[in-house]
Amino acid sequence: MRNTEFSNLVEEIQDEVIGWRRYLHEYPELSFQEDKTAQFIYETLQSFDNLEISRPTKTSVMARLIGSQPGKTLAIRADIDALPIQEENSLSFSSKNAGIMHACGHDGHTAILLGTAKILSSFQHRIKGEIRFLFQHAEELAPGGAQEMVREGVMNGVDMVIGAHLWSPIETGKFGVLSGPVMSSPDTFTITIIGLGGHAGLPHQTIDAIAIGAQVVSNLQHIVSRKVDPLDSVVLSVTKFAGGSALNIIPDSVELAGTVRLFSTEQRIIIHELMERIVKGITEAHGASYTFSYNNGPDPVINDEKTTYVIEETVRELWGDQALAQMKPNMGGEDFSAFLGKAPGTFFFTGSGNRDLGTDYPHHHPRFDIDESALKNGVNMFVHAAFKLLNH
Ligand code: NI
Repeated sequence: MRNTEFSNLVEEIQDEVIGWRRYLHEYPELSFQEDKTAQFIYETLQSFDNLEISRPTKTSVMARLIGSQPGKTLAIRADIDALPIQEENSLSFSSKNAGIMHACGHDGHTAILLGTAKILSSFQHRIKGEIRFLFQHAEELAPGGAQEMVREGVMNGVDMVIGAHLWSPIETGKFGVLSGPVMSSPDTFTITIIGLGGHAGLPHQTIDAIAIGAQVVSNLQHIVSRKVDPLDSVVLSVTKFAGGSALNIIPDSVELAGTVRLFSTEQRIIIHELMERIVKGITEAHGASYTFSYNNGPDPVINDEKTTYVIEETVRELWGDQALAQMKPNMGGEDFSAFLGKAPGTFFFTGSGNRDLGTDYPHHHPRFDIDESALKNGVNMFVHAAFKLLNH
């Protein structure tokens, strides 16, 4: 049920939340360098009551709100970092830091979580259990800040965790909520094929790394088309093929690199092995050698059924069935999975696209922007969902 007391408070602080977002937008900072951002978050949280505030890492912030009655612990996470992009919007609060931009909406995530903390901290006397606000640095840069925060113990004693992403492909007022797989693991790989260089007119005296590399690329495509269940989603893309220097020289070696994206950690092991088998088999067949490295990205984001049901119910109760957008899992990555590795939870999407306002550019685009009326929707969701999850 919509709690009018909460919703009225959300309306009341709406302009303040927008102000925070605009300040953060104007002064974006890159991953692992969010010093002023973290300071701003820390000071803003200090102006609220009843919070225990700490700095788990150099540029992250955590606030604990311990309710007046015992109960479960819920963590709510926002990411706070910006991207190395030159902003092309002309807003009164466009980025003042050259070449750096909040082009993914993390300024909005931070403002939403600050607004949520402000409201919930004033209801300490009605909270059962604990709410932990996690302001996470470095979502955009592998290996990511989430695992660092987890290592520092921010998830100790946490029973469930939720987080959300403002999402320009979904129109403002709607939400994307999925149970099960939501975002993939963005793994990467590098392959070097080592042949024997020589004169282009005397190929029989060489081991042609380019010709062998081409076979490796085409055979890697067989993994997804022939070795993966067609009902599972996997991406294997070779995105770099580098080698050679002149038209009359067969080079010694070529370097291939790319990305693998999938939704299950078991499948990751299988695909890793299949890739190496192909690279080994093809290079050996041609008398070449190789190096192969496969680097796991963040684990896939897999939502828990029970918390996701509560999130979905919250959307329905606040805005009705029509507010649930049709949505599929996507092949992007998110290190929110590091928190999900410690407690079940849900990562959902808050619509911020509005064609009339020009806020439907894709994420990471130099003209990305958010419909600021999505911010109050985000706060409303977190405040209502927090009470629902802790009282369930
Ligand atoms: Ni993002």
